[in-house]
Amino acid sequence: MTADLSLIRSSFTLVEPHGTQVTAYFYDHLFANHPEVRPLFAAHIGEQRDRLWAALGALVANIENTETLIGMLQNLGRRHVGYGALAEHYPAVGASLIATLQHYAGDAWTPAVEESWTAVYGVISGTMVAAGDAASH
Ligand code: HEM
Repeated sequence: MTADLSLIRSSFTLVEPHGTQVTAYFYDHLFANHPEVRPLFAAHIGEQRDRLWAALGALVANIENTETLIGMLQNLGRRHVGYGALAEHYPAVGASLIATLQHYAGDAWTPAVEESWTAVYGVISGTMVAAGDAASH
C-alpha cells in the first residue's frame, strides 16, 4: 500500500484531542451524505457513539503490528455482519472518515496524508468485509 505510516500517526494525533466533536462531525457528515445507513445506527441509539473512533485509535496504535491488526479487523468485520453493515456501506463510511480527518487536521492535511489514509482505509475495510463474508457463508 502507498501509505506513509508516520503521516497516519501524525495526522491522527492532531485530530484526537478534539474528542466528541470529531464523532459528531463524522456522523453528521455520514448521515447527510448517506441517509440510507442511518437506520443501522438508530437501532443502537443511546449507546456510546465514539466506539468507531476509539477502535480507529487502537488500529492506528497497532498499525505496524500486522498480526494483531488483522485479528482485530477480522473480529470487527464479523461483528459488523450483525449490525447490518454491507460491503457497499464501507466506501460511504470511508469518505466520511476522511472528510472528518481532513476537517480537524487543518493545514497538516496534504495529498500525501490523504493518499495514506485512503490506502489504510482500503486495507481496513477489505479485511473487515472479507471476514464478514467468510462468516456469513
Ligand atoms: C473502518 C471501518 C469501521 C470501524 C473501525 C468500525 C468500528 C466500529 C466499532 C468499534 C463499533 C462498536 C461495536 C464493536 O466493537 O463491535 C462499531 C459499531 C457499529 N458499526 Fe462500525 N466500524 C466501521 C465501519 C462500519 C460500516 C461501513 C458500517 C455500516 C454502515 C458500520 C456500522 C456500525 C453499526 C451500525 C454499529 C453499531 C452501532 C454503534 O455501535 O454505533 N461500521 N463500529
